Amino acid sequence: MEQLLRNFFLYLSKNMTLTAAARKWGLRFGASRFVAGETIAEAIATVRDLNRKGLLCTLDHLGEFVFRVEEANESADYCIRTLEAIHQAGVNCNLSVKLTQLGLDISRELCVGNMRRILDAAKRFGNNFVRIDMEDYAHNETTLEILEELLRDYDNVGTVIQAYLYKSAADIERLKEKRVNLRLVKGAYKESPEVAWPDKADVDENYKQLIRQHLLNGNYAAIATHDDNIINYVKQLVEQEQIPRDQFEFQMLYGIRPQRQVELAKEGYRMRVYVPFGNDWYGYFMRRLAERPANVAFVLKGLFKA
Ligand code: FDA
Repeated sequence: MEQLLRNFFLYLSKNMTLTAAARKWGLRFGASRFVAGETIAEAIATVRDLNRKGLLCTLDHLGEFVFRVEEANESADYCIRTLEAIHQAGVNCNLSVKLTQLGLDISRELCVGNMRRILDAAKRFGNNFVRIDMEDYAHNETTLEILEELLRDYDNVGTVIQAYLYKSAADIERLKEKRVNLRLVKGAYKESPEVAWPDKADVDENYKQLIRQHLLNGNYAAIATHDDNIINYVKQLVEQEQIPRDQFEFQMLYGIRPQRQVELAKEGYRMRVYVPFGNDWYGYFMRRLAERPANVAFVLKGLFKA
């Protein structure tokens, strides 16, 4: 049943008619639990609030289905305005971006050009950091190649490694000497068993190994998970191996386990919240429901209150 619901929400997340309708409705039906508003001003207000609780942030301007050059360029412009607003507000927050939003499916050159504009702006606005989220397997290798290209000129960029992929240990090794700041995650997309472990237990085991590998290489890790087993594993590992607390951070999504986020910050760990915003919230919202169908109950409550 859970798998059925998961596939259903993943299917809905890709539906363009519903995406367009959701843009018109605005942030309703429980989505505001996971999305911090539609404008930059609303997002900054949320970040300020989270900062007050001792939480660092990364902002993600939501966007789906970019097919035209103008849309990709507008998306990059919006990222730049967001970096400027972060700097002006003086909040502790960096930026997360997706290469498909910046035109990767149109042309690699367009996408790299947009990334360069964003990274230049990040430098200009307080030497901020920009992370490239990792999308599905079809974009994985190109994303890593683009990262390597950007690392020749920029030190304020990083990406994400997904533990469900067989290739990830080799990718960490490949990036080792570049001292790149990596976010390590389990992986969110539906992938074939030819490229990814189908069983959760294997993914969890590989996740632990990748965390260990990257931290023992001496590189900075952002460990993005809501899973207490993994969090406890990290706490033990850093204790045993004497890894300093400024070599890693935990990350969680906005609206998921907010109390746990504050607890970890109070325990003295760096804790960063991934804060999505924008009017293109529909696909993101459906993917959160797919991840944890238990959230549906919450959404239904929101529906009846609306
Ligand atoms: P998992 O889903 O395996 O859950 C394990 C346990 O965590 C559960 O049994 C429960 O105890 C607890 N838990 C999980 N969700 C909960 C909830 N809603 N409420 C209460 N408890 C909960 N993926 C990707 O492919 N590319 C990317 O770039 C990113 N980026 C990213 C950034 C950040 C900040 C996060 C947190 C995640 C991502 N991801 C991602 C998503 C990631 O790959 C993964 O799909 C989700 O984090 C879910 O996996 P978990 O590690 O949280 O545990």
